[in-house]
Amino acid sequence: MRGILLAGGTGSRLWPITKSVSKHLMPVHDKPMIFYPLSTLLNIGIREILVITAPTDRTLFHRLLGDGSQWGLRLEYAVQPEPEGIAQALTIGEDFLGGLSSALILGDNLFHGMDFGSWVRSGVELAGGHVFAYPVDRPSDYGVVELDADGRVLSLQEKPAQPRSRYAVPGLYFYDTEVTKIARTLRPSPRGELEITAINDYYLRERTLRVTVMDRGSVWLDMGTVADMVRASEYVRVVEERQNIKVGCIEEAAWRAGFIDDAQLRTLAQPLMSSGYGEYLLRLLG
Ligand code: DAU
Repeated sequence: MRGILLAGGTGSRLWPITKSVSKHLMPVHDKPMIFYPLSTLLNIGIREILVITAPTDRTLFHRLLGDGSQWGLRLEYAVQPEPEGIAQALTIGEDFLGGLSSALILGDNLFHGMDFGSWVRSGVELAGGHVFAYPVDRPSDYGVVELDADGRVLSLQEKPAQPRSRYAVPGLYFYDTEVTKIARTLRPSPRGELEITAINDYYLRERTLRVTVMDRGSVWLDMGTVADMVRASEYVRVVEERQNIKVGCIEEAAWRAGFIDDAQLRTLAQPLMSSGYGEYLLRLLG
C-alpha cells in the first residue's frame, strides 16, 4: 500500500495568514501541521508517500521534508495546479500508486489514539474502499455517513444542510486498486469540485464500502479554520505537557515503525537540541 498526502488548496479560510505560505506548514503547537497526517501514515506502516502541494509551495515542503530518507521513507512530490477537488489527488497520484492500493490522507487532519494500522497489518487484502465515521457536533461541515442500527451504510452526503446523522467522514481513506479508474470518471459537483464523497459513494453503490466507527476514546480534528487550528494546538499542548509525550512526531513514528534505528534517531536529534525537540528524541532511547 502507498500513501498520498494531499496538502494543496488555497487555504482561503485562513487568509491573510496563509496568503503567502501553505496552511500545512503553519505551526500546530510545536510542529508544522503536516507532521500530524504524515505521522499517521507512518503509524499505519506506510513508507512510500506522495505529497501533493500547490505549485508555489512545493519548494518549501521539500525544504521541510526532503526525500524522506532521513526517516527511512520514500517521499515524492506532485503539484495540483488548481484546487479542483480532493478526488483529483487520486488521478494525480496514479503513476505513483503503480497499481497498488492506497491510503489518502488530508493535510489538515489530525488523528490521535486510533490504531488504523491493525487491520492493514493483519494482511487482509483490501477490496473496495474503507473509511471511518466520527460523531461531531456540526456534521454539516463535513462528508456525512448515515448508518443503520447494525452499522450498515445507508447513505453518504457531502456537507448536507440537513445531515441524516451526526457521523462525519474523516479525511483518511483506504482504497483498492480500482480507485484511480473511478476517479477518472468523476465530473465536478455543483460547487465545482471532484468530490471524495463521490468516490466513496461509488464504492457504496458497488456494495464494497466498509465504514468503521472510530473508537470513543480516539480523537479526530480538522485544522481548516483559525478556530480549528487553535483548538488542535491546544489539544496537542495539553496531551504533550500532561503525558510528557509528543503527538505527531515523525521521528518517533519512524523509529517505532522500525524505519530507522537508534543511531539514526540520535543523529536526527542533534540539530533539534536547542528547541527541546531533540532532547525528547534522545529520551526515547532511554
Ligand atoms: O476533513 C474531512 C473533510 O474534508 C471530509 O469530511 C469532507 O468529506 C471533505 O470534502 C473535506 O472537506 P473540507 O471542507 O474540510 O475540505 P477542504 O476544502 O478544507 O480541504 C481539505 C484538505 O484538502 C486541505 O488540507 C486542503 C486539501 N485540498 C483540498 C481541495 C479541495 C487540496 O489539496 N486540494 C483541493 O483541491
